[in-house]
Amino acid sequence: MTVRFSIFTLFPDMFAGPFGESIIRRAVENGKVQIDIHDIRIWTHDRHRTADDRPYGGGAGMVLMAPPIVEGVESVLAGKPARVLITSAGGRTFDQEMAQELAAEDDLVLICGHYEGIDARVTTLLDAEEVSIGNYVLTGGELPAMVIVDSVTRLLPGVIDDASIAEESHQDGLVEYPHYTRPAEYRGLAVPPVLLSGHHAEVAKWRLEQSIERTRTRVQTSK
Ligand SMILES: C[S@@+](CC[C@H](N)C(=O)[O-])C[C@H]1O[C@@H](n2cnc3c(N)ncnc32)[C@H](O)[C@@H]1O
Repeated sequence: MTVRFSIFTLFPDMFAGPFGESIIRRAVENGKVQIDIHDIRIWTHDRHRTADDRPYGGGAGMVLMAPPIVEGVESVLAGKPARVLITSAGGRTFDQEMAQELAAEDDLVLICGHYEGIDARVTTLLDAEEVSIGNYVLTGGELPAMVIVDSVTRLLPGVIDDASIAEESHQDGLVEYPHYTRPAEYRGLAVPPVLLSGHHAEVAKWRLEQSIERTRTRVQTSK
């Protein structure tokens, strides 16, 4: 099964680098994902290809207009059902649980805002969900869309080693334990001896303790 991501943006060229390298590139080449980047300006209605306008009620900045986005998404989906996400600093906070949820979908639409954001009617008309990647404000939704595509793609069967996913941060509510590789000592810092002991049960116990401690001291939770 191939998961299709349809991304709507004013800046399609931004995606070439992150999607053209490493694991995501291989996932595309192996048919695990299809990533279609759509320039919102294709569905504009005037010769200047205007996709934004001043906000009703006044205020700073420009707002992305509803018609090009709504018509673009409708035209690409052509009646096929899909989960539609709008990147928004004020949306539901994206997390590993949501990444897993999205990895079970066939068709995902990601809409990238810019400037002051997107006309609110797009959310209603496309029955979309607003998603934030964290409590800070970026210049546009392109980086959040890349984050979402990346985190969902690596969860798809066959994209990376299943064992890597099982032990990862946030997969079971804990963050991962620390990793070490050669050399065994570097600038006076030695690898914890238990990791060199060859004693699998002791290693597992040490890793679990480290995960619990790191989760306790580093993870802020709203739950
Ligand atoms: C400059 S921001 C708009 C911020 C908006 N005026 C506000 O106060 O929430 C432009 C676009 O970047 C995207 N964006 C910015 N921060 C984001 C975040 N933390 N998560 C997801 N998208 C974000 C959204 O698509 C947003 O429409």
